[in-house]
Amino acid sequence: MKKITIAIDGYSSCGKSTMAKDLAREVGYIYIDSGAMYRAVTLYCLDNGLCTPEGIDTARLEAAMPHIRISFRLNPETGRPMTHLNDVNVEDRIRTMEVSAMVSPVAALGFVREALVKLQQQMGKEKGIVMDGRDIGTTVFPDAELKIFVVASAEIRAQRRYDELKAKGQEASYEEILTNVKERDYIDQNRAVSPLRQAEDALLLDNSHLTIEEQKQWLKERFEEAVK
Ligand code: CDP
Repeated sequence: MKKITIAIDGYSSCGKSTMAKDLAREVGYIYIDSGAMYRAVTLYCLDNGLCTPEGIDTARLEAAMPHIRISFRLNPETGRPMTHLNDVNVEDRIRTMEVSAMVSPVAALGFVREALVKLQQQMGKEKGIVMDGRDIGTTVFPDAELKIFVVASAEIRAQRRYDELKAKGQEASYEEILTNVKERDYIDQNRAVSPLRQAEDALLLDNSHLTIEEQKQWLKERFEEAVK
């Protein structure tokens, strides 16, 4: 069977990564969470005092970019990819609200996008990859054979993120999450470099009222059609 490239884009917390991960595992493809890469750069900024209430120290961040190494390693127990920043497992730390609050401004920086898009394209050179994010179908893999654009209401997305953080035992406020989801939507859609938008040839999926099982099934069917 031919190997294809699958690009899944959409708004924050709309369940892209769950469906992308499940499909990748089922069909034996590599899964890459591009958002985790922007989150890792943001964590680097926070850990090194490059993100302050006054803003991002872009000059120092640009100088540091060649020293920021991001990789994914499979957790042998769960089979899930763990994000590593300069060889340290940061999978849990990049999911905190502290990182969520700063990630969209960091991801709007042209030099950050340039470096990460290059890395993402290298990871997908051999095809057989499912990548999710904001600009995968438009910028990273414009020739992807299967492109999906996922949407759901902000309130439903905030509730899902709230449930996820709670399940991990992390402190969470629904109102704070909803505000963050809306702020990131705005920044992601309005930034100058590769703003979030549906690629012309992407299939639209509104999963507001779909269960995880239903959306998994929907994606599997689209995959079967695309590899035929
Ligand atoms: O997990 P969630 O859906 O909230 O977001 P994410 O996929 O972890 O991405 C975090 C942030 O990184 C997004 O809000 C975007 O600002 C940025 N991002 C991006 O600009 N381009 C991508 N390809 C992926 C993420």
